[in-house]
Amino acid sequence: MRFRDLVWRNRSYRRFHEDVPVERETLRELVDLARLCPSAGNLQPLKYLLSWTPDRNALIFEHVNWAGYIHDWDGPPEGERPSAYILILGDTEITSNFGIDHGIAAQTIMLGAVERGLGGCMISRFDAEALHAALRIPERYAILLVLTLGRPKEVVVLETIRSDRDIVYWRDTGGRHHVPKRPLDSIIVTP
Ligand SMILES: Cc1cc2nc3c(=O)[nH]c(=O)nc-3n(C[C@H](O)[C@H](O)[C@H](O)COP(=O)(O)O)c2cc1C
Repeated sequence: MRFRDLVWRNRSYRRFHEDVPVERETLRELVDLARLCPSAGNLQPLKYLLSWTPDRNALIFEHVNWAGYIHDWDGPPEGERPSAYILILGDTEITSNFGIDHGIAAQTIMLGAVERGLGGCMISRFDAEALHAALRIPERYAILLVLTLGRPKEVVVLETIRSDRDIVYWRDTGGRHHVPKRPLDSIIVTP
């Protein structure tokens, strides 16, 4: 797949074919991509928790928040939930400042997932305390991001923001998810 197509297809997907499993080995391959990412000071403070079993997936699902702009939707129903998750953790015994390392790692993992016919969503709104307890994650690890993964079941359409539109994504009556993006000329600053 050409790189631009990969980036184009790398949308935030929130509904999945839950019956299509994501194997542990696939998650390990994705983390192996993140392992090669740049890291400030080359500290490499990120660690990863993998989930691919229904039981562990259910524990994580309980504590993440979906699509804040879609107010009448609490997240995917049973059968459309992620088949796997990767939690990006920060090891506080290495540093307490993780900078943007986890953003770089997350995007790399997501691009690798799309290349494999998968997709997902980065989630920063989660109950960290509840996840720590439910998954017995030691206190030394800060939970930085939750990545949901699976075979996407939804169509995501990119829109160009016009003057009468804002940045809020929406779903149409056919269930397609629309995401407004700012036009190129509006993001290049020419003083
Ligand atoms: C750092 C970060 C945190 C995010 N947190 C959430 C979240 O908590 N819940 C959610 O449903 N989506 C979350 N998203 C997904 C964004 O809503 C999504 O990227 C945005 O709507 C644009 O859609 P796109 O990814 O398809 O371009 C997050 C994205 C990023 C980059």
